Order: sequence, then structure tokens, then C-alpha cells
Amino acid sequence: MAKYLLTGAAGFIGRRVSEMLCEQGHQVIGVDNLNDSYDVRMKIWRLDQLRRVSGFHFIQRDICDVQTFYDISDAHPDIEAVIHLAARAGVRQAGEIPEVYLQNNANGTLNVLEWCRKYGNKKIILASTSSIYGANPPLPTTEDADSSRPLQIYAASKKAAEVMTYVYHHLYGLDATIFRFFTVYGPAGRPDMVMFRFTQWVAEGRKVAITGDGSQMRGFTYVDDIARGVIAGLRPLGYEIINLGGHEPINMNDLLSMIEVRLGKKANVEYIERHPADVNANLANVDKARHMLGWEPQVSLEQGVSALVDWYVKERTWASDILTP
Ligand SMILES: NC(=O)c1ccc[n+]([C@@H]2O[C@H](COP(=O)([O-])OP(=O)(O)OC[C@H]3O[C@@H](n4cnc5c(N)ncnc54)[C@H](O)[C@@H]3O)[C@@H](O)[C@H]2O)c1
Repeated sequence: MAKYLLTGAAGFIGRRVSEMLCEQGHQVIGVDNLNDSYDVRMKIWRLDQLRRVSGFHFIQRDICDVQTFYDISDAHPDIEAVIHLAARAGVRQAGEIPEVYLQNNANGTLNVLEWCRKYGNKKIILASTSSIYGANPPLPTTEDADSSRPLQIYAASKKAAEVMTYVYHHLYGLDATIFRFFTVYGPAGRPDMVMFRFTQWVAEGRKVAITGDGSQMRGFTYVDDIARGVIAGLRPLGYEIINLGGHEPINMNDLLSMIEVRLGKKANVEYIERHPADVNANLANVDKARHMLGWEPQVSLEQGVSALVDWYVKERTWASDILTP
């Protein structure tokens, strides 16, 4: 059984990857600074779940502080790989605080890479994003599609992280698997993302803001599918960029209808102006993940939306207060 360092452990995806690894008998050293990128009560809730999991150990530290990694290595010299998920992830917020995105996503990644070099860590998994494909990629999008014209500093900072990771593979032989995730959703998801917002707004009878005309399409990916893919990527692979995406694209209007049906409530919809940082559509070609990792998305959109809505209803007493500005 192995010991892994996982950055962003209190995050939406980090929590599920940590849980799955520990269920398989591994140990996870989870790092997170619990920043205020969104309502921190959601991060604390996830962390409370994780603290009950045998094999999980939490450290509240900042990846932008190089000392974090040296302290972790002193305490845990037997780490086998790092799963680097910590980042500032909101697409819209990136325009308001671009320097924070660059600091966390680019410099933070550089710190992880430097730690790998100095401490002889041989394997990194880096979380990247479908946003890197910009405004109008060919759909479904393969990994070799153009990623040089991102629409936000978020995607630009992820591009920086990807190419720096390549440098460490080239110069120091670091085995690096970069996953480009496509719009992840599920229970305890991010409150700045559409699935959580729609669910809370409909459940609580609040106004549901849809940007544009609601025809934007997303290839949503269930969080457990993402976590299985990340874990499959821990094997030695050299240097690879791999899409992980869902198989049932849906537009925002149809997604809202699905949530309405599951909650048994009608939404009070308001259409608002579209944000220029939003892409029109995303949909992954996952042939590479299928061939290299034997990975397929397993959870249907209907199953995943049901799991999210059921989770929300169960946790409603506090989840209804989570800020969704
Ligand atoms: N959720 C998605 O749809 C999606 C899509 C594409 C890519 N990604 C990427 O996957 C990763 C995980 O995303 P998520 O949705 O779980 O986001 P999240 O914001 O829920 O999780 C990220 C976690 O990292 C932590 N963190 C950020 N900066 C840190 C720092 N400097 N030091 C320590 N901890 C720090 C945050 O507190 C947070 O808990 C991110 O890299 C994100 O860019 C997510």
C-alpha cells in the first residue's frame, strides 16, 4: 500500500480522490489552505467527512509557501507520488483577481515540481482543465486541439502549469500525467458551479439566473468518474495529457428541467447577460483515457444529478445557507 501527497484535499475533487484511495488501503497526506475562493463551510464539511476516513491525514498549509513541502517531506519521507489538485479554479473570479490565480496555479505548481526534483519524487498528477481549449474547439475535443487561445487567466495559468510540468519531465525524468477535466459535478460540489447553484436555487425557491439563452452545452463529468481516472493515472506513463470527460452533453435549459423534475419544483428563471469568459460548449473525446487507462465514464447524467439532488435534500439545513453569489 502506498502513501500519496494530495494537494487541495478539502476541495470538491480532492475529497473524493482521497476517500477512494483510503478505501483501497492507501494513505493520503492531504494539504489544503482552506482559502475563501468560495464559501469555506463547504470545504470544512468535506474535511469533516475525510477526518473519519482511516488512512487520511490533514495538513492545513499553503502550497505557495515552499517550506510546506520540506516540512511534509521531513515528516513523510516515504511519499510515492503527488496528486496536485490545489488551484484557484473559478472561471469568472479569475478576471477579478488574476494575480492570485497566477500565484496559486503557476507558482504553486512550480513549488510542487521543485519539491519533486529536490526530494526525488518520481510521479506527479496535475489537474488541468477543458477551459484550456478556448472558445470554439472541435467537438468532441481531442487532446491535440489548440490550447494557445484561452479565454481567461484561469486557463492561461493552467497552461503555464502544464508546460512547466513538461519541463520537469524533460529535464529531470519526472513521470507526469496531466488530466484535463471537463465540468465536474456531484454531491458537495463547488457552489460557484452551475449544478450546485441550480439545485440550491430551485430547492429554496430563489431566482435561477441563466446566462445567455441557456443553450450553452456542457459534457458534465461525475466526480467519482474523475476520481477513478485520477487514480488510474498513478501508474508510470511518461508524459501524457489526457481528457477526462462525461458522455452525455446537455444544455443549461435541459439541465434545469432535469433538476426541477428530481426536486419536484418549478424554477423561477431569469436570463442574464452572458459572460465573455464562458465557453459555448465542451465535450471530451476520451479515446486516449479509454486506450491508456481503460477508463470510461460510468455514471449517467441522470444517476449523477439524482445523487447530487438527494445529497442536497439530505444536507439542506446547512447547504441552503451556502453562498452562491
Ligand atoms: N471542478 C471542475 O469542474 C474542474 C474542471 C477542470 C479542472 N478542475 C481542476 O481540478 C482541481 C480541483 O478542482 P475542484 O473543483 O475540486 O476545486 P476546489 O476549489 O473545490 O478545490 C481546490 C482546493 O485547493 C485548495 N487550494 C487552493 N489554493 C491552495 C493553496 N495555495 N494552498 C493549499 N491549498 C490550496 C482550495 O482551498 C480548495 O479546497 C483544480 O486544479 C481545478 O482547476 C476542476
